[in-house]
Amino acid sequence: MKGIILAGGSGTRLSPLTKVTSKQLLPIYNKPMIYYPLQTLIAGGIKEVLIITAPERAGDFLRFLGSGKELGIKFTYEIQDKPEGIAQAFIIGENFIGDDDVALILGDNIFEDDFSEDIKNFKTGGHVFAKQVDDPERFGVVAFDGNNRATKIVEKPKEFLSDFAVTGLYLYDNRVVEIAKNLKPSERGELEITDVNNVYLEKGELTVSTVEGAWLDAGTFDSLLEANLLIARKEGSSIL
Ligand code: G1P
Repeated sequence: MKGIILAGGSGTRLSPLTKVTSKQLLPIYNKPMIYYPLQTLIAGGIKEVLIITAPERAGDFLRFLGSGKELGIKFTYEIQDKPEGIAQAFIIGENFIGDDDVALILGDNIFEDDFSEDIKNFKTGGHVFAKQVDDPERFGVVAFDGNNRATKIVEKPKEFLSDFAVTGLYLYDNRVVEIAKNLKPSERGELEITDVNNVYLEKGELTVSTVEGAWLDAGTFDSLLEANLLIARKEGSSIL
């Protein structure tokens, strides 16, 4: 299984913090944000990781992460010219993925859970992780039937569907590259990861597990602060 961290975009919602650096390099207590999703992949035994960045920020990531040798892994870098969607990562990463399966994680997603078993035991199809939230309308949302099987996934639903958000860690088999290539951009001009998930769902090949611990998408001022507090508490900060 190969890993991709999508750390593109210009982080406009966090401006002016993101004027001279990338959102995914902002501090979360004692480490840059991207360190946390990277740890999630490394814990799953992933040894080859593609970092996808915005063009003007690639040098910053390279300086921070380097070759990966010190961590016993290998980094590859690619550019996403414009924020044209999460699913574009599989097109940009086609050569990197080769014939392998792939775990994609968003560079601003911080998880408390350990997903190493899910990553190591992944066989085929697609697998996503859902978390109960108070504000599902901000996310991709998954509905379940009485037997806890996913029935539907909708990106930022206008009407209440369920309160289970699809988090930013996704496991797919190699077919994801072709699936991504066949997607059409959504109304917001993006290749939607929700559309990828729906392709697997329609084939009956999407499994969903739930996230028990904290999950933060640290892309707003409040969630950034929350992420800092979460990690500071875990690290035993003396001011909390
Ligand atoms: C994206 C996805 C959404 C997912 C979320 C997780 O949202 O489109 O399905 O629930 O990441 O962080 P966006 O960051 O594009 O608003």
